[in-house]
This record gives sequence, structure tokens and C-alpha cells, in this order.
Amino acid sequence: MATLMDSRTAGLKFSAKLGATRAFLRAFGLFGDPFTRLLQGQQDPYPLYAAVRKRGPLHRSHLGTWVTGSHELGSRILRDRSLFLNRQQGGVPGHELMDEIPWDSSILGLDPPDHTRLRRLAQPAFGPKMISKYRVSVEKLCHSLLDKAAASDGFDLIEDFAGPLPLLVIGELLGVPEEYHDRFIHAGRKVGPVIDGVKSLKMAREFRAAVDDLDQVFTELIALRGREPGDDLISRLTVAEGEGKLTTGELLAFCTVLAVTGFETTTNLIGNAVLAMTGDRAQWNLLRDDPDLAPRAVEETLRYDSPALQAQRVPHQDTALHGHHIRADSSVVVLIGSANRDPEVYTDPDHFDLTREDPAEHLSFSGGMHYCIGAPLARMEGETALRVLVDRLPDLHVAGPVTRRSSPVISGCVRLPVTAKPR
Ligand code: HEM
Repeated sequence: MATLMDSRTAGLKFSAKLGATRAFLRAFGLFGDPFTRLLQGQQDPYPLYAAVRKRGPLHRSHLGTWVTGSHELGSRILRDRSLFLNRQQGGVPGHELMDEIPWDSSILGLDPPDHTRLRRLAQPAFGPKMISKYRVSVEKLCHSLLDKAAASDGFDLIEDFAGPLPLLVIGELLGVPEEYHDRFIHAGRKVGPVIDGVKSLKMAREFRAAVDDLDQVFTELIALRGREPGDDLISRLTVAEGEGKLTTGELLAFCTVLAVTGFETTTNLIGNAVLAMTGDRAQWNLLRDDPDLAPRAVEETLRYDSPALQAQRVPHQDTALHGHHIRADSSVVVLIGSANRDPEVYTDPDHFDLTREDPAEHLSFSGGMHYCIGAPLARMEGETALRVLVDRLPDLHVAGPVTRRSSPVISGCVRLPVTAKPR
């Protein structure tokens, strides 16, 4: 009884907090602060990014957060070794629930020297040898997902293809055996959307249950791989744990964080690529006629519609940035989505162009020591998925209303109905 009451009280408190955060953001948004309006979640954040850039390379938002939408400064901030990670991702409604994920003991929540130690242990799983090994199974997975999805007249590209693919790939990388797939996929798909912020109490409950389930799955798998090691990341990290190179908590956190970071982002990369190119048939046809353009299609999608929209840093001491005095512990946000459309570095930035020759690399995988460790894997998955799609479904087009996420941190589609039938 006490537990039921406790959970009801917690639920009421959570709802009240969610409502208060939204009202607070709306109030500041009304005063025209573009960053606060971005935090409310926008289906099309690009006009607001332009408004941020108009305020200069760095400005202080009404919420006290320092914000840059500039490519040059954003890139410098992400590489600046005097700035650290900021896990207090304040502002996104319901974001405090993300604390249920053990970020702080994971590679994504640690600064050197612990970060360096964990990154070194994980790096071999993302090296070129492993990527070419995964390529074969990614191609197979793409075909088997399409065999099922394209058997009917229409299908949902996210639900039936781009969603399951990365989770199955991470499952393989980690060494999740087949009998765990359903639980793993179910939990992974409930955890991912919370990166956007929590929209309801139901979502909060499902999220908590899913985090617990992922935790349980990984605890069982770590025990299993301790007894029966394989050629996968959990086995390798379990050996390292036995040698005292990482703690059990760090091992568990690593697995959970990989399931969260590597899944949603890659799903959205594939979805955003298809959405952009089917919206501009000439671009789709370029790829269809020359599938070797797939790596370019991936890079241009990452620039034009980055799945990851922002990264945060924090100085531990007072510091100076672009002529501003930044107090210790102030949040500094790099708007990746804005940097990638900065007209200072890209010609006609709002145009998706497979033949683009601008030399600047997008910031979609961040920069510096936290540069995405999964970038080669995501690139390979994106390229392979696009090659298979244009090869098997050359007439693919959108066949119904698209639902986009409206999140300050993630760009992607919730629903992307498509059909392969010629128009
Ligand atoms: C298109 C797909 C992806 C995008 C856009 C993306 C984006 C990012 C970004 C922006 C960061 C850095 C955050 C920061 O600087 O604070 C990051 C880090 C990271 N990503 Fe990715 N990611 C993608 C795919 C993946 C995949 C497939 C995996 C693994 C399976 C992965 C695992 C990680 C990990 C472990 C880190 C932390 C690295 C570190 O702190 O050293 N990501 N990612």
C-alpha cells in the first residue's frame, strides 16, 4: 500500500514538475529567446537556428545557458580540453528521467583519465577490421528486413526497417544472443525516445521499466559471457573487468549507453536520408543511378538533417570564450544542427546537395575527445542501408503523412510511411 501511495505521489510530483517546466519554457519563449523556443521542441528548428546565429557567434540565453550556432566556434568548443561534459542537460521537459541511465559511470559521462581508459578498452570493437566484419551482417539484415517489409504494398520505413536495424547491429556488436533479441529490442525502443524529454506519466513509467529490463538483460549477459566468452564487446569487457581494468558498474553502464546512443541516432540517419532524397527526386535519382554516392548521401544527410542536434560542455573554472567571461559550471551549448547550416562555411546551406564540395566537416559526430566512437559503424550502416534501398526499391517514395519528432536534441521521424510501387 505504502509503495502504491509513494508511486502515486511520485507520479503527481513528476506531472507537476513537467507542467511547470513547460510553462516556464513557454514564458521565456514568448519573450523571443530563440534558444528557449528550441528547448520547447520544434518540428523545423532551422529558422530558430538562423535567429541564434543572428545574435552573434556566442550569446547568453534567458535561461543563463551560453549558446553557439556557429560552425567555427562550435567546433572549437567541442575540441577545447578545458571544457568538460555536462550531464545536467537542463531545460528539456522530463529530462531528469535520463538520470536513470547510468551516464555518470559511462564513457559519455566521464572526463579523463577515466574516459581515456574506457575509450581505449572499447575502441577495438569499432575499428576498421570489425566494421568490415559487421558490414556483411548489416547487408544481410537489410535484406531480411526488406523481405518482410516490402512484401506488402506499403510499409513504415522507421518501424519496419530503420528502427530494428541498428538495434540488431548493436546486439551483434555486444553479443546479445538470439533468445534475448525480443526483450532487447522491446526495451531499447522504449528507452530511446526519452532522449527527447518525457511527454507523459505513461512514458515515464514505460521508460523506467525498460531501463530496468535492459539492466537485467545485460546483467544476465555479463554472467553468461563470463562463463562462455565469444568474439564480442561484452566478452572482451568482461575479461577486462576480471583484470581490474573497469568496474562491474562501468561495464553495465557502457552496455546501456551504447544501446541508447547507437540506436536512435542511426535510425534517424537512415530515415532522414530517405526523407530528404525522396523529397527531392533528382537527389534520389542521382543515388539510384550511382549507388557509389551512398557515402556522400550519408555525409550530406548528417550535415543537412543531423540526428544529433546539440552537445553541451561546462568549464570547471571561470574562463573566457570568444570575448565573453564564462563562469565556472555554466552550461555551454553547441547547436550542431545550426553549425551544420552555417552560411559562413556552407554554400546554400539549406539545400540538400549530394554533389556538394564544401570542405568543412559537419559536427554531427561532435569533435575532440568525445568524437562519436560509433561514427564508422553508423556511416557503414547508413551507406549499406541506402545502397540496399535504392537497389531493391528504386521507385521508393513517401506514401502518407510523415510524423517528425519535435525534440531539441534529436532530429528524426516517428513515422515515415513509404511504398515501393511506381507512382
Ligand atoms: C548517425 C549516428 C550517430 C550520431 C549522429 C551520433 C552522435 C554522437 C555525438 C554528437 C556524440 C558526442 C556527444 C558529445 O560530444 O557530448 C557521440 C558520442 C558517442 N556515440 Fe555516437 N552517434 C551516432 C551513432 C553511434 C553509434 C552507432 C554508436 C555505437 C554503437 C555510438 C556511440 C557513441 C558513444 C559511446 C559516444 C561517446 C564517445 C565518447 O564520449 O568518447 N554512436 N555520438
